[in-house]
Amino acid sequence: MSELQIVDLHVNVNGKEILKGVNLTVRQGEVHALMGPNGTGKSTLAYTLMGHPNYEVTQGEVWFKGQNILELEADQRAHLGLFLAFQYPVAIPGVSVANFLRAAINARRKAENPEDKGIPIPEFRKQLKKVMDTLRMDHSFAGRYLNDGFSGGEKKRAEVLQMAMLKPEIAIMDETDSGLDIDALRIVAEGVNTLRGPDLGVLVITHYQRILNYIKPDIVHIMLDGRIVESGGPDLALHLEEHGYDWLKNKVEVIA
Ligand SMILES: Nc1ncnc2c1ncn2[C@@H]1O[C@H](COP(=O)(O)OP(=O)(O)O)[C@@H](O)[C@H]1O
Ligand SMILES: [Mg+2]
Repeated sequence: MSELQIVDLHVNVNGKEILKGVNLTVRQGEVHALMGPNGTGKSTLAYTLMGHPNYEVTQGEVWFKGQNILELEADQRAHLGLFLAFQYPVAIPGVSVANFLRAAINARRKAENPEDKGIPIPEFRKQLKKVMDTLRMDHSFAGRYLNDGFSGGEKKRAEVLQMAMLKPEIAIMDETDSGLDIDALRIVAEGVNTLRGPDLGVLVITHYQRILNYIKPDIVHIMLDGRIVESGGPDLALHLEEHGYDWLKNKVEVIA
């Protein structure tokens, strides 16, 4: 069974320490929610895991399948079976969602076996249709140019579709940068709820306190000021919904 193990991760952005020692393990088969107010470092964690160059790791390790993935390029991380949403955030005019997905699948197959000739197109089409039906997506979505004029919700739909087609062992899904896009969280949650099972571990990142209306995580973590200050079951999300984050503020002072 695979697990993603984040150990004492410290990250600077523009010379300022944003992550101050994050410890978190996500195993295959588990759905984790990472919650916390805006500006506490949740997206910084996601960007760091995907290897974004602006995020400077100053301390710590992230283990996956016996490797410290911080030493790997972003595409190598993906080929290991780690899915990081936002991996391809830019619009790619002229490349349809379907073509992009096929390229991503073939890249992963080739990384596993250099002799691989790529997935046969009829097989790919069959899989894509099946997955889109499971996710109740309109088939026309596969013909759209990737992220070209996509709404926040459509970007999330493309990510969920990518996750379903690539069948990663661990997936990290961050909320949209607009933050308030409940629609986007709903799309991610429905996708995760459909795809969850013993082979998939997911970290869903959100600041939205009423997450339980959409998804039932096995484990909930709360991030404040660059650290995870509390972890627990779904009841922790319920507690947040009722009481907000104030009751945790003294924890930050104690740890700091
Ligand atoms: N690219 C960046 N440039 C400058 N500051 C950044 C950048 N990314 C994040 N930060 C800062 O890091 C802190 C954490 O941000 P972020 O990780 O986006 O929080 P969250 O996702 O929890 O809302 C904020 O103070 C934010 O201003
Ligand atoms: Mg964020």
